[in-house]
Amino acid sequence: MDFDVVQAAAADWGTAACDALLVVVDEQAGPRACGKALAALLQQAIADGDFAFEVGRTLYLHRPAGLKAARVVFSAATAATPKALRAALLAGLAVLKGGGSRELWVAAALAAPLGEAHAQALVAAVHDAVYVYRHTKPSAPAASKLRRVRVAAAAADAAALRGGLRRGAAIAAGATLARELTNRPANHCTPSDLAAQARRLAKQHALRLEVLGRKEIEALGMGCFLAVTEASHQPPKFLVLQYRGAAKAAAPVVLVGKGITFDTGGVSLKPPAEMDEMKADMGGAASVLGTLCALAEAKAKINVVGLIPTCENMPGGAAVKPGDVVTSLSGQTVEILNTDAEGRLILCDALSYAERFKPALVIDIATLTGACVVALGNLRSGLFCADDAIAAALQAAGDAALDPCWRLPLDDEYGDALKSNFADVANVGPRAGGAITAAMFLKRFTAKYPWAHLDVAGVAFKSGNAKGATGRPVPLLAQYLLDRAG
Ligand code: BES
Ligand code: MN
Ligand code: ZN
Repeated sequence: MDFDVVQAAAADWGTAACDALLVVVDEQAGPRACGKALAALLQQAIADGDFAFEVGRTLYLHRPAGLKAARVVFSAATAATPKALRAALLAGLAVLKGGGSRELWVAAALAAPLGEAHAQALVAAVHDAVYVYRHTKPSAPAASKLRRVRVAAAAADAAALRGGLRRGAAIAAGATLARELTNRPANHCTPSDLAAQARRLAKQHALRLEVLGRKEIEALGMGCFLAVTEASHQPPKFLVLQYRGAAKAAAPVVLVGKGITFDTGGVSLKPPAEMDEMKADMGGAASVLGTLCALAEAKAKINVVGLIPTCENMPGGAAVKPGDVVTSLSGQTVEILNTDAEGRLILCDALSYAERFKPALVIDIATLTGACVVALGNLRSGLFCADDAIAAALQAAGDAALDPCWRLPLDDEYGDALKSNFADVANVGPRAGGAITAAMFLKRFTAKYPWAHLDVAGVAFKSGNAKGATGRPVPLLAQYLLDRAG
């Protein structure tokens, strides 16, 4: 998709020959901000009761007389913010879905001028709207023929908008990659397939990649990771990807992504309802690949290491059993009381492995707990971080990228729930505070560096009619790291 800015005053908006013109308009700016011809159309529609400044309201006009644009869509925005712009764009793009437009002009009649963040949100919205999953459904109809998007803006805003479009394109490329991989079924996205995807990404962007197999994982002593993969016929992989955009000596940020390509729960088997959605239990891993993709696309001046422990969690004769005690890479022994709390087991060994990079910061990303979905629903990721400044920066990045998170606590006392009579720590506590105890488990392996944990169980994948992956939290991570890179 090709994005650019065109300098055009409101009077010119419908006069250029384009396939479609999408006008986002808020009540404060109103019809009079749209230029004469468009204002007349919009005013008439409002008078006729066919348009109002309400969430999601749109008006479609096909080849309206006196304008050169073949299609005009008005879409109501409830404010002039990037978030309101995104909502209005998504509503307007839904109207054009399946239609014949190849080139779209977007014009904003809003109370405030468009800035960099608006442009970034616009690119994200367009990519979200045109994405179609085809990997195992080649018959899926294309959502649109759209190839070019032009943002109409005043000359003074053009430079900032172009910056936002570029940043948005890099982030959207990464988010779309994460979305696509997370959508793929577990028999098309095995640990070996994830390794192949990492290889492809490494080749494309000159990243360093190491793929460790079972032998190397054993030799390292990753007893927790090995316990999870035991009953699977798919060989486990441990992926180490390195993006180097800054000086060699600059300490990297390490991203650790949960890569369970299918989570049956193991011997602590999950109930059948919605178990298919556990193909998305590698959403954290996908977000690491997506974020590295975004950083490389943006040529970010930062060093980032991606660590992905990936395997299946299966029941079977060789499976780890409730009560089994295993030794983690850190040396701590772990009593596996529930084999369905497997994410923390593969992550804890990866978190210990991260020490060797002497990281400035480690962020793990995981579809870790149903409890986090209960706490925060599908809107915000759960953020855990003992460092107030890092937590605030991550939360701000999420807000800016419209991929928000919310901080949850890490008081030491929560760790008491994980006491075991048979090992240094148990892998689960009681139901209450389950997202927090999961984070407390991970925290035990992060003593050597600043650390943050994102529980994305509620945001990486949607259930119901719109079932599918979202590409989150790539926007949050990419925004944070791009800001950090300066
Ligand atoms: N992958 C699941 C968490 C999950 C649940 C992700 C719903 C997405 C949607 C994780 O491995 C899991 O099974 N967690 C258990 C932990 C429990 C056994 C302590 C859970 O949340 O029930
Ligand atoms: Mn599980
Ligand atoms: Zn899981």
